Amino acid sequence: MSIYGDYEQVLPQILAMTTKRIQQLNQQVLADHQPKLYEHLIGRVKTSTSMAEKCRRKGYPVTTRSALRECRDAVGLRVVCNFIDDINRCLTLLRQADWWTVVKEKDYITNAKPNGYRSYHLILDETAPYQDPDGHLPGHFFVEIQLRTIAMDSWASLEHEMKYKHHIKDPERIGRELKHCADQLASCDVQMQTIRQLINEKY
Ligand code: GTP
Ligand code: MG
Repeated sequence: MSIYGDYEQVLPQILAMTTKRIQQLNQQVLADHQPKLYEHLIGRVKTSTSMAEKCRRKGYPVTTRSALRECRDAVGLRVVCNFIDDINRCLTLLRQADWWTVVKEKDYITNAKPNGYRSYHLILDETAPYQDPDGHLPGHFFVEIQLRTIAMDSWASLEHEMKYKHHIKDPERIGRELKHCADQLASCDVQMQTIRQLINEKY
């Protein structure tokens, strides 16, 4: 049995709807002759197994309500941008959109995690034409959005992969090297942003 119970079928629809809405924001930007908001957009519904594991880890009862209300990342989207500036343009539009309210923001770009992880996280409370666990229709559903540059994304993917490799020889050294890489990538992001501005300057 899925931890999502009756919502097993609904969550993929929430994901599809949110994806469409963000694509729509990008279409408007393009119609306005502005550069695209993001390079790519990927989403997932967290598997029932990892959601149950997360509930246990956080000390919540392993229920549908915990999965949708205590945890707020059953539905998640990652917006991968070319430049840091694009993250800020996305943020402005995401905050302005009528489909949801932003209920939480975590800026791991200004305040990178000690391991070097960088990303901007938002939790949306999104309105959708499905009944929610409180019996409301239209319902409210939480969606987690992660905004990052391509450089931040490549680092996070590699780090995520290595996290699960235990019994490594010198974990402290690997941690230091990873952190160093993250900082170099962050500095590249700033340089790339500067280059873009220089290219756009009129002479
Ligand atoms: P979770 O219980 O993991 O959801 O943590 P949280 O509720 O404290 O949220 P946080 O904003 O710290 O992290 C949420 C998500 O961000 C994770 O599920 C990952 O996708 C991503 N993330 C956070 N920290 C790291 C990290 O150090 N490395 C990588 N690769 N991803 C991270
Ligand atoms: Mg999470």
